[in-house]
Amino acid sequence: MKQYDTRRCAIRRKRRLTGDVFDFTVDAGDLAGISRAGQFAQIYVPGKTLRRPISICEADPENRALRFVIQVRGEGTAVLAGLEEGDSFDLLAPLGTGFEPGDTSRRALFVGGGIGVPPLLGAAKPFGGNAVLAAGFRSGDAVILKEDFEAAGCEVRIATDDGSFGRRGLVTELLGATEFDVIFACGPRPMLRAVSRLADERGVPCQVSLEERMACGVGACLGCAVRLRGAAGEFYGRVCRDGPVFDSRSVVWENGTERRAASWQT
Ligand SMILES: Cc1cc2nc3c(=O)[nH]c(=O)nc-3n(C[C@H](O)[C@H](O)[C@H](O)COP(=O)(O)OP(=O)(O)OC[C@H]3O[C@@H](n4cnc5c(N)ncnc54)[C@H](O)[C@@H]3O)c2cc1C
Ligand code: FES
Repeated sequence: MKQYDTRRCAIRRKRRLTGDVFDFTVDAGDLAGISRAGQFAQIYVPGKTLRRPISICEADPENRALRFVIQVRGEGTAVLAGLEEGDSFDLLAPLGTGFEPGDTSRRALFVGGGIGVPPLLGAAKPFGGNAVLAAGFRSGDAVILKEDFEAAGCEVRIATDDGSFGRRGLVTELLGATEFDVIFACGPRPMLRAVSRLADERGVPCQVSLEERMACGVGACLGCAVRLRGAAGEFYGRVCRDGPVFDSRSVVWENGTERRAASWQT
């Protein structure tokens, strides 16, 4: 089998998690065995030219299933969210790099913001009780997947912007003197930048999942270029192919690091 493939995958289970967030489990066959959390699928949207990138929340090879959590943001995600059990997703997957858990006996900190939380679930599960999730949401009614992390044995700490659930404030304020050996993060760029700084201060490795507007999703169009740092200096990498998960030290976080296309053909 190729590194990635296209597949029509029947929706086995659909649940509404909040007003605009939906949880899908699809029959993915052998794709489930070669996928891991943090990689993503390009999902075809009927009537649209470009597929939509959605993270793999969990891969379950035993049950030949993939799980996706989708938030309605625009027309494409609204169409996907409207699909029902028995309908199918047309996937191009698995794409990009996923989280690399490494030694799961380490104390791991998972930091997520909003719709950045789902890909952390599959990465956190192998750590069980060694994992702490610090997750930030707009408000209490936007909190997702708390029970899933708890069922996996992880400690869950929540912050909300309006204080309606958990602690009011930034997700990074949930950490206190907590000690950890490794960090995994996914969410808005300012949050990732703060987490990267924290990792530098504590001297621990940190993997961050970047989000960038995408077209092809397979490294061909350069639409998702991001500035990176390597041994030979700075260079442009592709979020879809070189990422979306990067070592936080390889990301250039300063202003002007993101190159966004002015207009997109959808
Ligand atoms: C690697 C990666 C993983 C993602 N994982 C998830 C996930 O697990 N769950 C989830 O709900 N969303 C996820 N997103 C964001 C999701 O792809 C966008 O919300 C979605 O593409 C918006 O499409 P739309 O048609 O609803 O919105 P529109 O704004 O109408 O989209 C217009 C165009 O812009 C692109 N676009 C718009 N916003 C984004 C964005 N934030 N990132 C990339 N392309 C965008 C669309 O693909 C489309 O081509 C992820 C994005 C990336 C890059
Ligand atoms: S989306 Fe085309 S190169 Fe990344």
